[in-house]
Amino acid sequence: MSLSSTLARWLGLARNSDPASPQKGFADKSALQPLGKSARSSAGTPIPFPRFRATAGDQLGSQADSAFARTRMKLLESFTPSQPVSDRKRFAGRLDVLTAVIRAIEEQRLHVVVYGERGLGKTSVMHVLTQAARDARYLVVYVSCGADSNFDEVFRTIAAHIPMLFHSTVGPTSPDVEKGKTLASILPATSISPRIASDILAKVVGTRVVVVLDEFDRCHSEEFRQNVAELIKNLSDRLVRVQLVIAGVASNLTELLEHIPSIQRNIFALQVPWMPPAEIRQLVKNGGELCGLSFDDVAEDAIVSAAHGSPYLATLLGHHAGMSALNEQRVRVGRGDVLSAITNAAQEFHERMSGRVRAVLKTYAVGEKTPSLGIVAGASLLSGGPFRLDDLRTPIVSADGLRRCDELIAEMVRTGLVTEDKLEGTCIYRFAEDGIASYLWLLSVETKLRESKAPGPTPIGVNFTPLQASKSELSRPLS
Ligand SMILES: Nc1ncnc2c1ncn2[C@@H]1O[C@H](COP(=O)(O)OP(=O)(O)OP(=O)(O)O)[C@@H](O)[C@H]1O
Ligand SMILES: [Mg+2]
Repeated sequence: MSLSSTLARWLGLARNSDPASPQKGFADKSALQPLGKSARSSAGTPIPFPRFRATAGDQLGSQADSAFARTRMKLLESFTPSQPVSDRKRFAGRLDVLTAVIRAIEEQRLHVVVYGERGLGKTSVMHVLTQAARDARYLVVYVSCGADSNFDEVFRTIAAHIPMLFHSTVGPTSPDVEKGKTLASILPATSISPRIASDILAKVVGTRVVVVLDEFDRCHSEEFRQNVAELIKNLSDRLVRVQLVIAGVASNLTELLEHIPSIQRNIFALQVPWMPPAEIRQLVKNGGELCGLSFDDVAEDAIVSAAHGSPYLATLLGHHAGMSALNEQRVRVGRGDVLSAITNAAQEFHERMSGRVRAVLKTYAVGEKTPSLGIVAGASLLSGGPFRLDDLRTPIVSADGLRRCDELIAEMVRTGLVTEDKLEGTCIYRFAEDGIASYLWLLSVETKLRESKAPGPTPIGVNFTPLQASKSELSRPLS
């Protein structure tokens, strides 16, 4: 069963859904209300002024309940939604991705392009790859690209990390080596071209260098991308001991790196797929074990369902659910904690939206629409943004369901929640802002979880089958 039909089924839009039992209300909005400003609790006792629990040196305050306070500190390091993972103990799954990249570097001596949707763990893979390469004594230079990156500046940074010791023109006892000089010291003052860069890198001997260019999507300069493509071509033609690994957000390879035809044979391209449920489960288990929390099976199921294949969402929910348990002095994390985590996470997405979108969303705060909005949001998340009407309509069989689906999309376009573009005669839709899809998705999961009171795995947890991301024509199969 495809994810979209699974979604439609449990959200109540598919053929087998029971029309006599309409979806109940929207998420409990009271839970999304901002905190009250009163400095007194409802019982009238004064609320202490907020303060940090630990010092900047990570020392716990003297009043902290030691065991729980320590677990809380560890939790902050075990689930880090705003930071990539660099530690192997925390790194869950992705072994096929890592193996494929290592083989491409080591056995095929190819340059690598890793691309995929936001938050799928590309940077985390780059960090773990860096460690593995350093373990094998590769010299790894890691560069995080920025909006204003240019080739000259990036190459100078790379050169500054390669010691002169590895330059064929100098001996190991030369003064330049003894002074710890790097290739940066022999660069001309004029702007560096791909030709100059490859001439210098061609003289690297005695080691192999991996240059990681992460967040490549952040730089929009056409010239920068063209120069990087040219460098790849030059390095490949001259059998240079330097390989580039490029990572960035893109739904297809050419979006990330233009000028592909000229370097097609020189690169290994890999689209990072959605994280399968078993790996999300592993991510939660790893985090729990590292900080001393144990997640109930039903709590894990709920996170797997809500994460929708995104390690970022899984980490965010693991963090909030752990906090919820610790706030109640528990080290067992239950389904209720995950529910509260979903509410918190949804609120965070909501607060990052523009006032205009929030105002529009208010008009959608009607119970029956949550499941349908969840389907639209789920389809958008899986496709990395853009979706077609057919993506939503396929699993819906009843005429009424189809009509409601079409009406909903038309309404979302009319209110500006979703934009509509025409591509080769097909309408392509996307949410007007980042975060709307995640917000609506979490609300629909929250509603569904609140409705299914029975203990044990929820239907969503059991049925979840993430859609495999389509592979680019340049990608080689994962082995
Ligand atoms: N394999 C993994 N194991 C555990 N946690 C992971 C893994 N991959 C990603 N995460 C978590 O998911 C979140 C996003 O990861 P990361 O920053 O690596 O993604 P990304 O694809 O580089 O994101 P972006 O597209 O924004 O650059 C982080 O919180 C990270 O801790
Ligand atoms: Mg990243």
